[in-house]
Amino acid sequence: MNKNEIIERTAEHVKKKLSGEHTGHDWWHSYRVWKMAKHIAENENADSFIVELAALLHDIADWKLHDRDESTGPKMAKEWLEELGVDKDSIEKICDIIINVSFKGEKHKSLIKDMEGEIVQDADRLDAIGAIGIARAFTFGGHLGNLLHDPNVKPTKDKTIEEYKKMDATTINHFYEKLLLLKDRMNTKTAKNIAQERHKFMEDFLDRFFKEWEGEK
Ligand code: ADP
Ligand code: NI
Repeated sequence: MNKNEIIERTAEHVKKKLSGEHTGHDWWHSYRVWKMAKHIAENENADSFIVELAALLHDIADWKLHDRDESTGPKMAKEWLEELGVDKDSIEKICDIIINVSFKGEKHKSLIKDMEGEIVQDADRLDAIGAIGIARAFTFGGHLGNLLHDPNVKPTKDKTIEEYKKMDATTINHFYEKLLLLKDRMNTKTAKNIAQERHKFMEDFLDRFFKEWEGEK
């Protein structure tokens, strides 16, 4: 099987696996991360095969949805890639990326080692900001049963992993606890540029949100 076929087969596999997932990790999230990661990889001269497969498979079994077990995703990815006959070295690289891309609170240091991992992480983080990021946040917040906003609940800075996993805040606070921090956490130059514009869009949104909240607009 050539590399293109492997990528296409994997896309179909992920699409099937994630159908019925409606909380922000649906197939279309993986699709967007895949396309963005490919775009960045081409700009940065990285190994597109590794990047595309890791991007496609990065959320195959999200830890929040699988009894918080962080090893399910890499295991499922490994089994799938072995089935397709992908070489051991590539599988190891891809699984390593999947283990390390997820952002779990400010204090959790990233263990990403190479540019391919950095690119998948950038693409995943870019999908959490901008217009799509706003839409995803309110979808996920709704799924958690959170309020849009409560002026009496302040954002919690420097959350521990345990606090972060509790996810008991309002959706507006999620912007201050995570989304507005992401632009400074991009690894590649290509992603930094894209993040800049998406960040500005969220700032404008929040500015307007608070004005509407107080009946000023
Ligand atoms: P990723 O797939 O990028 O690793 P997460 O699993 O952390 O992201 O979250 C999936 C989506 O849900 C993201 O867009 C994220 O911003 C959003 N999200 C996560 N936690 C919350 C929350 N407590 N309130 C609102 N949105 C959230
Ligand atoms: Ni993701």
